[in-house]
Amino acid sequence: PDDIPVITIDGPTASGKGTLADEVAKALGFGVLDSGALYRVTGLAARRAGLDLDDGTAVAAIVPTLDLRFADGHVFLGQEDVTARLRAEATGLLASQVAVHPAVRQALHQWQLDFRRLPGLVADGRDMGTALFPGAPLKVFLTASAATRAERRYKQLISKGIPANMESLREDLEARDERDKNRASSPLTPAQDAQLLDNSALSIEASVDQVLNWWQKRRPF
Ligand code: CDP
Ligand code: CDP
Repeated sequence: PDDIPVITIDGPTASGKGTLADEVAKALGFGVLDSGALYRVTGLAARRAGLDLDDGTAVAAIVPTLDLRFADGHVFLGQEDVTARLRAEATGLLASQVAVHPAVRQALHQWQLDFRRLPGLVADGRDMGTALFPGAPLKVFLTASAATRAERRYKQLISKGIPANMESLREDLEARDERDKNRASSPLTPAQDAQLLDNSALSIEASVDQVLNWWQKRRPF
């Protein structure tokens, strides 16, 4: 599996990682790992089970019991379509609470590695380039200003019919970024050899082109 090419895309919330990952994967025919979805579903399931989210051992123990399925852009937990529930910012906050625990990160580790299949993988998250795929030939660290990111997430939620409030959204995003950057276990930080991409003033197409350009230069992968 070490021979299977991986492109990692890490960065703060609503910087455009998922959109970029999907487009790059489509262009190259690669698979996608939305690692945040695994943390979101873990946070959601832990909350529903009434667990103490500060108890990393208890939360990690539910990971092997999760019956998760990705199909046509939808995520199913058992029989339930949890796609909209997962995208809600409240679930993002649950995810970042359970993501601080080394036991939870460990429980999700192998599951994430199993997404690495031929002909290749685009992996998006916080620690794809630093912890999961440190040997990846192309690592991107995607950023955008906090105001840009809050506005993007706001529009994205409203367009999907998910209620949102701009002010509280920005506060929630910033709280989550702080927690992700300052935790001891796999904090949000660029890999040493990451390409930095600030897309505050870039279109989605221009960001995709930049990444494909970097990828071309890394052939023979
Ligand atoms: O995965 P992540 O939370 O980093 O962000 P995303 O869900 O991919 O992107 C958040 C929103 O920003 C989406 O609605 C994208 O269409 C939008 N976006 C944008 O407007 N301009 C960009 N250059 C990149 C993303
Ligand atoms: O889409 P957005 O960037 O807002 O969030 P996400 O990628 O779905 O991740 C939700 C939360 O899960 C993050 O705020 C992190 O706390 C955690 N996470 C993580 O710790 N490591 C990852 N590889 C992915 C997500």
